[in-house]
Amino acid sequence: MTLLKKMKLLLFLVSQMAIFTFFIFLYPHNINPPPTEEAPKPMHVLVLSSWRSGSSFVGQLFGQHPDVFYLMEPAWHVWMNFGHSSASTLHMAVRDLIRAVFLCDMSVFDAYMSPGPRLQSSLFQWEASRALCSPPACNVFQRDEIIPQTHCKLVCSKQPFEVVEKACRTYSHVVLKEVRVFNLQVLYPLLRDPSLNLHIVHLVRDPRAVFRSRERTTHELSIDSNIVMGPQGKKVSKEDQPYKVMQVICESQLEIYKAMQALPKALRQRYLLMRYEDLVRDPLPQTARMYEFAGLKFLPRLQTWVHNITQGKGMGNHPFHTNTRNARNVSQAWRWSLPHENVSRIQELCGHTMNLLGYHLVKSKQEQKNLSLDLLSTWTPSKQDYQEG
Ligand SMILES: *[C@@H]1O[C@H](CO)[C@@H](O)[C@H](O)[C@H]1NC(C)=O
Ligand SMILES: *[C@@H]1O[C@H](CO)[C@@H](O)[C@H](O)[C@H]1NC(C)=O
Ligand SMILES: *[C@@H]1O[C@H](CO)[C@@H](O)[C@H](O)[C@H]1NC(C)=O
Ligand SMILES: *[C@@H]1O[C@H](CO)[C@@H](O)[C@H](O)[C@H]1NC(C)=O
Repeated sequence: MTLLKKMKLLLFLVSQMAIFTFFIFLYPHNINPPPTEEAPKPMHVLVLSSWRSGSSFVGQLFGQHPDVFYLMEPAWHVWMNFGHSSASTLHMAVRDLIRAVFLCDMSVFDAYMSPGPRLQSSLFQWEASRALCSPPACNVFQRDEIIPQTHCKLVCSKQPFEVVEKACRTYSHVVLKEVRVFNLQVLYPLLRDPSLNLHIVHLVRDPRAVFRSRERTTHELSIDSNIVMGPQGKKVSKEDQPYKVMQVICESQLEIYKAMQALPKALRQRYLLMRYEDLVRDPLPQTARMYEFAGLKFLPRLQTWVHNITQGKGMGNHPFHTNTRNARNVSQAWRWSLPHENVSRIQELCGHTMNLLGYHLVKSKQEQKNLSLDLLSTWTPSKQDYQEG
């Protein structure tokens, strides 16, 4: 190489770097400011669950708290862009999206939304977020109000997409509900990430009840179910597919629980197992438990609200259709509406998970239909874990 050529090459590299630097400074909003010592680090809570397991209700419990910026299932955008993929292939994209959203970097959605002007209503189920219905996102409601989704959807849907990021940055807690994560390894880097303070609420529900509930929403869940089964799903007959999906879900819950127990104690304390049935039986104490875990105050106003909604007052579309007693009844509906042979089959596929999470198996049709037989063990796994060394 002649000296001239070397000089030219050097000049070229320097100019490229200058352009690169220029773009970095041109788009400062894409870069997180270095964390300042005095600012307390926001709390990041991932409600990790599966479909039809009461996660929307738990999401509401967090989302209506005035300190929480909540988003429901942001990874929906990833999955709906890759309908023929598999959960494991999409895991890393899902993880990166979760990380970015926790850090309020909403540019991550650029990859999954069509170009052009975008509104906050481009986000899946945005109206489930009270934060997107109140200032600075939308000025119609107060920040500390309980905001019904239907009201919000009516009046806040025209806000530009930029308000999502702006709103997120004003909260001390970011809570995401996600159903599209199937193992814990994927999340290890986030648990250890110094820029995050990740806490996981693992919400589970009796697989027999989930199965029954999924049956009634087979069509809505079909794209998701294909991704859950992955390429091997094509080999599974139509009748067997619901069982295959349940099996994958049960295995993933087992894996997540076990992997968490294998972590060092400091990380294990960032995990809370919540059974939907416990929440249905004792909404106030269980909500208190989740708030405490997340470092949130259970304000008296919110206590009244939780009391009200679990007694069937206010909020239309939530799992407590009329009151707690009815919700308990609904959570047992599989016992009289699912044939015993189908229940048996789920118990075979999900038995290990059920044993671990404290759901008793039924050995006969008689046991299944006998409602005075309580199938929920009083064993609370997370309490035991906190006690041991
Ligand atoms: C709870 O219900 C009572 C009686 O219906 C109502 O007056 C009150 O406003 C409700 N409070 C909340 C926080 O939902
Ligand atoms: C509760 O469950 C029983 C089945 O044993 C059913 O007949 C009844 O209608 C349910 N009650 C309510 C309030 O849903
Ligand atoms: C139960 O299983 C049978 C045979 O496997 C199937 O034909 C039927 O549709 C199932 N019923 C329900 C409610 O899942
Ligand atoms: C239902 O279960 C209860 C509690 O185990 C038991 O005492 C009772 O005999 C059972 N009833 C029937 C009809 O099997």
